[in-house]
Amino acid sequence: MNFSACKKSLANVIVIGAQWGDEGKGKITDLLSRSADVVVRSQGGVNAGHTVVVKNRTFKLHLIPSGILYPQTECIIGSGTVIDPQVLLEEMSQLEALNVSTENLFISQTAHVTMPYHRLIDQAAEERRGKRKIGTTGRGIGPTYADKSERTGIRVVDLLNPDDLQEKLEWTINYKNVILEKLYNLPPLLPKSVIDEYLQYAERLRPYVIDSSLRIYQAVKKKKNILFEGAQGTLLDLDHGTYPYVTSSNPIAGGSCVGAGVGPTIIDRVIGVAKAYTTRVGEGPFPTELHGEIGKLLGDRGAEFGTTTGRPRRCGWFDGIIGRYAVRINGLDCLAITKLDVLDELEEIQVCTAYELNGQLCYDFPSNASELARCKPIYKTLPGWQKSTTECRSLDDLPKPALDYLKFLAELMEVPIAIVSLGASRDQTIIVEDPIHGPKRALLDADGTPVNEN
Ligand code: IMP
Repeated sequence: MNFSACKKSLANVIVIGAQWGDEGKGKITDLLSRSADVVVRSQGGVNAGHTVVVKNRTFKLHLIPSGILYPQTECIIGSGTVIDPQVLLEEMSQLEALNVSTENLFISQTAHVTMPYHRLIDQAAEERRGKRKIGTTGRGIGPTYADKSERTGIRVVDLLNPDDLQEKLEWTINYKNVILEKLYNLPPLLPKSVIDEYLQYAERLRPYVIDSSLRIYQAVKKKKNILFEGAQGTLLDLDHGTYPYVTSSNPIAGGSCVGAGVGPTIIDRVIGVAKAYTTRVGEGPFPTELHGEIGKLLGDRGAEFGTTTGRPRRCGWFDGIIGRYAVRINGLDCLAITKLDVLDELEEIQVCTAYELNGQLCYDFPSNASELARCKPIYKTLPGWQKSTTECRSLDDLPKPALDYLKFLAELMEVPIAIVSLGASRDQTIIVEDPIHGPKRALLDADGTPVNEN
């Protein structure tokens, strides 16, 4: 046997959200994309919102990987995503208007397409749920994935074949009209106008459509650096999140392989992104949520409003139980901690180190949402630093309590911290270790021992 055939390429990296989404993955993937030849988005749809700030220009991306801002980087929207062509085309036009080329953008032919009936059903179903609502983004994500599982979905490849599309859509729209009219009391859709609209989108998207799994495999063979960019976060995972308050895809690291169509053996490293505190949008239990002044302060200082819906995010203390769960479920190698500067003004900071459930201490994340709703957080209080960290560019620049805070998080989660982010700009970042090219060695040790900078 030729063992060299098993040799791994050096730097295929998955970046995922370690909390409930909105952890600042856009900024971290943007930074790492600099060293990537290919960036792949594997799951989710236009429910995601990545904000990237470059030279005072703010880019809000929903579907297109943040790697698009580097002209040499290929960006692939993979099979596991769901694509709303109208939003995608708008996003492409906006980038082009800002002189960002979309020449290196590729779209998987096997990704599923969000149709107008998906959006209508998503919104109507939420209304019907009343108190049981999930708090979805209303972008049709759940119904698009439901059709995929039910095997009645429309894929990008169907868009490219007008006769096929006509036949499939006529059948599907008539079927969905029954649901719209009879279940939700909504007017029916006109098949012809939907078909005409989507045929126009198809012609504009046609040049970008590829066999994405094959293209990624060819990049692997050429030993290119591939970055798999996660959307949403661990606790929004359909299988491992706080079900039913989750999204309809798999944002965990394993989902990246499925959605991109690659085997897990090509992955070299998994990076989790977590805020220095916790936020969530939508409904569902949130043990460390803060309802008073401190929650408001975190929301204001952190500009915690959804990129996609503009909804205010719920804010709370960092939850170490969630952090440890994210490490386990994703097999995290290291962490990027974002928005540390949001804590700058606080006198004291709390970190959840355990839950109390049914009168007992528990250190493992409960696998069901109703149990989680009954968990009371047990906190460790740490001193704040009450100094601005936004200008810090190395660990040495950080006030000691801020460094101690980071060490405490690394110790609690038993993973090294590789990146610390202190603001939205690219330069407001401390790269503790270069996670793509660097050795598997951290400067912030997981056991909390003093920082070894040699
Ligand atoms: P859906 O993905 O629109 O079906 O929404 C399901 C749940 O996931 C809701 O609680 C949303 O607020 C949440 N969600 C979906 N996408 C994101 C995201 O990108 N960031 C944060 N929460 C999200």
